[in-house]
Amino acid sequence: SNSKKVVITGVPGVGKTTVIDASMEALKAEGINYTSINFGTCMFEVACDQGVVSDRDEMRKLDQEVQRTLQKTAAQVISKISENVIIDTHCTVSTPSGYLAGLPSWVLEELKPDVIVLVETDEDQILKRRLSDTTRTRDVEGYNSIKDHQRYNRYMAAAYSMFTGCTVKIVKNQDFLLEKAVEEMVSLLR
Ligand code: AP5
Repeated sequence: SNSKKVVITGVPGVGKTTVIDASMEALKAEGINYTSINFGTCMFEVACDQGVVSDRDEMRKLDQEVQRTLQKTAAQVISKISENVIIDTHCTVSTPSGYLAGLPSWVLEELKPDVIVLVETDEDQILKRRLSDTTRTRDVEGYNSIKDHQRYNRYMAAAYSMFTGCTVKIVKNQDFLLEKAVEEMVSLLR
């Protein structure tokens, strides 16, 4: 089909949802429609039904096997969408037992993305954005730890690209330059 499947990732607080929302609005004005699916919300709905969590920030602390089952269910739901779709998710999730692949092979096989986007910015900006968001239970993390996570996400995106043949696009979402990030995202999604 001609529909595009775009996976958008970034460490928590980098602003990926902000960039996605503004990009979708700009595209709509041009008559281009995307359905945006938040992978975490899909997982959370399933997890709530099962009564295993009551807060989305508890999910990454669940048993590995439980997280994997939730991932699989979410991927199956999303794969049924046939129009242009943006999947707001994570390249890797930082869990107490290490980095968990956000898109292991069985998720990639369901999603079949055309492109994976990494939304990035300087670690100090991410730290500041996390601290200013009081609606969430963010992990307490320092500059170096966020830097390691962003770097690891690039390695994983390369692996996903080898596996599926998708491209990998890096979009910077810097302070005071949201418009620039949106412009780049829109030209990719157009
Ligand atoms: P998810 O819902 O993705 O939550 P998150 O990681 O915390 O991401 P957010 O949406 O809160 O942050 P964001 O980066 O989009 O930033 P925002 O736009 O809000 O995931 C939840 C959970 O689901 C995960 O923890 C995990 O358990 C699970 N999950 C998801 N996918 C998974 C997968 N594939 N496998 C396994 N588990 C998975 O912006 C943040 C702040 O920055 C805002 O205050 C905003 O105003 C500000 N900001 C944004 N842009 C700028 C800018 N340019 N300049 C200044 N400020 C800015």
